[in-house]
Amino acid sequence: MNPSALKGRSLLTWIDYTPEEIRYFLDLSKKVKEEAKKGVRKLRFRGKTIALLFEKRSTRTRCAFETSFGEEGGHPVFLSNQDIQLGAKESIEDTARVLGRMFSAIEFRGFKQEYVEILAKYSGIPVYNGLTDMYHPTQALADVLTIEENFGNCKGKRLCFVGDGRNNVARSLMVISAKLGMHFTIVSPKSLWPDDALKKLCEGYTKESGSIISITDDVDEGVQGADAIYTDVWVSMGEEALKAERIALLSPYQVNAELMAKTGNPKCVFLHCLPAVKGEEVTYDVIEGEQSKVFDQAENRKHTIKAIMLATL
Ligand code: CP
Ligand code: NVA
Repeated sequence: MNPSALKGRSLLTWIDYTPEEIRYFLDLSKKVKEEAKKGVRKLRFRGKTIALLFEKRSTRTRCAFETSFGEEGGHPVFLSNQDIQLGAKESIEDTARVLGRMFSAIEFRGFKQEYVEILAKYSGIPVYNGLTDMYHPTQALADVLTIEENFGNCKGKRLCFVGDGRNNVARSLMVISAKLGMHFTIVSPKSLWPDDALKKLCEGYTKESGSIISITDDVDEGVQGADAIYTDVWVSMGEEALKAERIALLSPYQVNAELMAKTGNPKCVFLHCLPAVKGEEVTYDVIEGEQSKVFDQAENRKHTIKAIMLATL
């Protein structure tokens, strides 16, 4: 893999990247993290600017982009939809073309995957998907890094996502697992299974990677032998009206001590992209317990996001 092939690329979903390219991002993330731990200071984004567009709220993603870009001498500009006309009085195409004349890169967090695609198409600069309704690719890279810190190469390890199996985080984990050869199971009620098209696409990747992708509504069967149990909120941003319905549907899928024990693996770790609603998708004792790696995951957002920008800018 020639790293110069990554220059100028956008990250909209991991579907667009080869396993070798994803591996390059992971290795670079590890290097970036080691440098950070040693206090190495560089100015690799000096003279560069990034527009951080946020239609939805964020703690980790915004702070990871803003701090990692600024520390390397770059200038991040935060723009919420209260600040700019994104899709309101100005088309996304026009916003993209204007930002493309002023910035080195764009990050976008919002609702429609289509918006991030239009930004990439019309801006002419790298665009990073900081979460849409469909995908959360920068999160998935941090999650794989966290898994590798605990178990070594993720190939052949078993990641199990329990909860809302059709959300952005679950969908991104399915893609990255299938590409990298990690086994991936979704444990979720049937009504929240991801669409068949995504499953078929990922099954195509497994022929090369050796990953096994499975989806079940049976908790006992699904979590058996897992190396990592992952969950996310039951109500994603923009779905607030569905709260009562989701709690009723997903209560049997809560990650608690009993579910962790059902893995049969005492070394199994607990992962969550955060923010978490303790007492809903995960109990307090599990997220605060020894198996939980959620704050390593949160820290890894910064190292992985810096690596993505270093490789593509
Ligand atoms: N995990 C994650 O994306 O967190 P934020 O919503 O705080 O950015
Ligand atoms: N699925 C969640 C992820 C938050 C980081 C959401 O979209 O709200």
